[in-house]
Amino acid sequence: MAWSQLPSSVEVVEVGPRDGLQNESTPLDAATKIELVERLGAAGLRFIEAAAFVSPRWVPQMADGAQVLAGIRRLPGVVYSALVPNARGMEGALAAGVQEVVVFSAASESFARRNINCSIAESIERFRPVAAMARDAGVRLRGSISCALGCPYEGAIAPAAVVDVVRRMADLGCDSVDIADTIGVGTPGAVQAVFEAAAGVLPLHRLAGHFHDTYGQALANVLAALELGVRSFHASVAGLGGCPFARGATGNLATEDLLYMLHGMGISTGVDLQAVVDCGEFIGRAIGRPGTSRAARALLAARGAAPQPG
Ligand code: HMG
Ligand code: MG
Repeated sequence: MAWSQLPSSVEVVEVGPRDGLQNESTPLDAATKIELVERLGAAGLRFIEAAAFVSPRWVPQMADGAQVLAGIRRLPGVVYSALVPNARGMEGALAAGVQEVVVFSAASESFARRNINCSIAESIERFRPVAAMARDAGVRLRGSISCALGCPYEGAIAPAAVVDVVRRMADLGCDSVDIADTIGVGTPGAVQAVFEAAAGVLPLHRLAGHFHDTYGQALANVLAALELGVRSFHASVAGLGGCPFARGATGNLATEDLLYMLHGMGISTGVDLQAVVDCGEFIGRAIGRPGTSRAARALLAARGAAPQPG
């Protein structure tokens, strides 16, 4: 496909405050999380995964989701979402006033068991009441499929296994479904194969790519999915992230790297890259470690090298 046939705009879903911070060993207070979400919104991000209403015994880092969502000064037009594993989580998310909830399962049985302590089929049953509650409340429902390109416990995952979960999530009433490469093992050909197969049960405009950069493949995978017609991508400021239940999972694709590539290709996102670089600096200071985005590092170096006024 010629570059000119690529879309003029793409949707960027910021997952740093949830997928990023859920894996941080440095304890962060709610005020810092709130400021991060507010800064990301001010930078132009319109989809922000802000919290998870999961068991605090499983993921203590996300225990203050209600406080975070209550503290955010919300911007009009921004969709604040939260992960929910069951009806109990859904009650918390609805009480916190999210506009979108994310139910999450996996393409591999072993990972589902380790992450949510049940089989894939059981997870879908748990999501039924969640889906009904989302419908009643008029809240968007998104499904997320972990380990869609490989599993730390089972190895290679066949596209048919992913398609099966996409179908079940579509049947539940999910508005969209994320195909997630939780351990970042996917390469562009495999990415196109899985999205092509998934498009057989849910149109591409209802699928999103969630790539981790563990093997340095995330941007190449975005490009492969873009070429195929995918128009929604997840990323995490400063490349934060990983999953506590996926051995070897490192950071998500950094938002700064995704924006640098898309904007360089003339694809608009509505997001201010320099402002996201500042968000990355902010959260890096809070966790005591610089982010992993190479675009951010280069842009910061360029700022330092720029002639000073006067
Ligand atoms: P369980 O232990 O099988 O279930 O956990 P349970 O019903 O026995 O609950 C255990 C305890 O949690 C009980 O409390 C429940 O009340 C409580 P206790 O009696 O021990 O005091 N509980 C809850 N508390 C708050 N909110 C709730 C909730 N539910 C139960 N919603 C469960 C099953 C699903 C709850 C657990 O396994 C869990 O919370 N897992 C979440 C794991 C998680 O958040 N993983 C990270 C997100 S997935 C991810 O990062 C990948 C993704 O980003 C894609 C990618 O990056 O590739 C999506
Ligand atoms: Mg992730």
